[in-house]
Amino acid sequence: MVERYVMSIDQGTNSTRCILFDHRGRLVSVAQHEHEQHFPRPGWVEHDAAEIWHNLQRVVPEALSVAGVDADRIAAVGIANQRETTVLWDRRTGAPVTRAIVWQDTRTAPLVDELRRRPGEEFFLERCSLGPSTYFSALKLRWMLDNVKGLKQRAQDGEVLFGTMESWLIWNLTGGPDGGLHLTDPTNASRTMLMNIRTLTWDDELLALFGVPRPVLPEIRPSAEPYGEARAVLPGVRITAALGDQQAALFGQTCFSPGEAKCTYGTGSFLLLNTGTELVRSRHGLLTTVAYKIGDQEPVYALEGSIAVTGSLVQWFRDRLGLISSAPEIETLARTVEDNGGCYIVPAFSGLFAPRWRSDARGVIVGLTSYITKGHLARAVLEATGWQTREVVDAMNADSSVALKQLKVDGGMTADNLLMQFVADVLDVPVVRPMVIETVSLGAAYAAGLAAGYWSDLEVLRRNWHRAGQWLPAMDPERRASEYENWQRAVERSLGWARA
Ligand code: G3P
Repeated sequence: MVERYVMSIDQGTNSTRCILFDHRGRLVSVAQHEHEQHFPRPGWVEHDAAEIWHNLQRVVPEALSVAGVDADRIAAVGIANQRETTVLWDRRTGAPVTRAIVWQDTRTAPLVDELRRRPGEEFFLERCSLGPSTYFSALKLRWMLDNVKGLKQRAQDGEVLFGTMESWLIWNLTGGPDGGLHLTDPTNASRTMLMNIRTLTWDDELLALFGVPRPVLPEIRPSAEPYGEARAVLPGVRITAALGDQQAALFGQTCFSPGEAKCTYGTGSFLLLNTGTELVRSRHGLLTTVAYKIGDQEPVYALEGSIAVTGSLVQWFRDRLGLISSAPEIETLARTVEDNGGCYIVPAFSGLFAPRWRSDARGVIVGLTSYITKGHLARAVLEATGWQTREVVDAMNADSSVALKQLKVDGGMTADNLLMQFVADVLDVPVVRPMVIETVSLGAAYAAGLAAGYWSDLEVLRRNWHRAGQWLPAMDPERRASEYENWQRAVERSLGWARA
């Protein structure tokens, strides 16, 4: 029998990837293209959605060609995407009306302050489970409507469409002469501040508060269900899933039961804990988010600790400071020294996300003396990721009253052994990594394959999870405590800097 595969598209912050998976969840082929990051002003981050769509049209045939197969061997397509990043496009021409505003962008900070005063944090937490922040889509959309001439009226008239990246790509993939499907799923919609977290529908009061006209919004459909044919690049093949990338990673790590958690180390890092069909509210700075909704089954929720800057700090070290020429070199450089030499970097480039949610924080480097070399800085870069994970795990333990016993990790940065050992050391729990670290892509493939009947149920998927790496804690408890205290003192210095 001819083997069939599931295709996964991962539209991430830095690149667009296409991966084929076989029935045992093994990676068959990969194609990837990076897109440009635009930083037009301090705190602003933009993407060109047309460039991203162009890259998608390249990676799909490339992944097929690497695998040596045609489209008829693809059982279904699943999409995972960077969340919150906001795109607006013209319904008629299909052209983006402005550059996409990326999740890391902080230009809406003044609007956040306004909303914190009125109607206040509690209102939003109750309605959409997110407190006002520059991170989520609604304020980015509002900013576009306020700042692009004539856009408000065009939005009222239904001439422009809003979406996060999955909506934009599905609209293009399914498009024909009369336009494509305009849809999203609850995992992505739960990051906009426009969806009611209980009913999973657009909330009229939130729409009114943010000044968002209904005609711009996509339809909210389950995360896994047949949507439509990807006729632009794969005629005859259906798109059957879409999830935000972090929820996809939770799915790819097969964290299907309440209490199971994973942390994905990418541009930022995101720790998600499955809380089952129960909507749990955090009292310690975590978000409640939709983990997935399969067909007409009840939605599954998660608690999330979002860290804005981890891998992107390494990128900054490489591209903006030029201290290394490739990301993996950070480990080699960090190993040239024994420790951080007393130096700490708090990468509050987009303010600080979980558990502090301080949009007024900015990055700081503290503890500099003439003793510090670039090796020490490299250590401080990696350690920043470890300490930020620790803060999120502390919040999660406080919320769930049961301490995390081990952490499942994935994503590109897990190839860094020094970092993974440091994470195990500062958390004081074992850190485990599966065979396939591309869990974002795998999760989108799993959801798509389930909806298409390629896999029968969650148990089959669980059997595909195999441990490939493990790091055990080895740090002396006193050193852990004093280093954590130093980190927290460094964080104190980053707070409020944006207002000084
Ligand atoms: O919420 C932002 C997140 O979805 C971005 O993920 O992997 O593209 O950095 P990543």
